[in-house]
Amino acid sequence: MTTLCMPHPDQAELLTELCMRSKAIWGYDATFMAACRPALTVTADDFQQSELQIAIRHDRIVGIAQVVCHGEIAELDKLFVEPEALGSGIGRKLFDWSVEAARRKGATIMTIDADPGAADFYRRLGAIDDGVIASTVIPGRFLPRLKLDLAGVRAA
Ligand SMILES: CC(C)(COP(=O)(O)OP(=O)(O)OC[C@H]1O[C@@H](n2cnc3c(N)ncnc32)[C@H](O)[C@@H]1OP(=O)(O)O)[C@@H](O)C(=O)NCCC(=O)NCCS
Repeated sequence: MTTLCMPHPDQAELLTELCMRSKAIWGYDATFMAACRPALTVTADDFQQSELQIAIRHDRIVGIAQVVCHGEIAELDKLFVEPEALGSGIGRKLFDWSVEAARRKGATIMTIDADPGAADFYRRLGAIDDGVIASTVIPGRFLPRLKLDLAGVRAA
């Protein structure tokens, strides 16, 4: 069984490494992964300035979600599942939590700057395409931007 809970700031480093392992499933090289590290680092500030949740299965952390809210707009900043736990509903569970967390903070739209490999996952869960966005990590790289109308999603 998978349960969700808030992480503890002491777990920040473990969570960063989980994000790195998860991002690497798309086959990126070491240079690209190193460039991604700052964006994938879970910081002490994240615990104060965003909504965080982790998934636990068999006493192990197997996923993380992070939502940053700015008034009516929420950004899904991180959604990462441990490679060994992919395809078992954890991503969906964390996504549903993110939708509810964004709603609780008063957001009406959730934006997602997606890894190209994950874009179909978000489309499957109801997000729609909203153009592309320049990568903050690699100059000249563009990522699919998606958005979810939070009013249009049934409460979980
Ligand atoms: C994208 C990710 C979070 C999905 O997590 P997951 O736990 O494997 O997904 P789930 O098992 O909850 O899948 C939910 C549904 O989405 C589908 N799905 C999952 N990944 C998919 C993908 N890459 N493309 C298309 N559909 C996908 C599943 O088939 C499932 O559909 P179903 O309900 O009809 O059976 C996971 O692949 C991941 O962590 N990837 C690496 C990190 C990453 O890129 N994160 C996103 C950053 S923007």
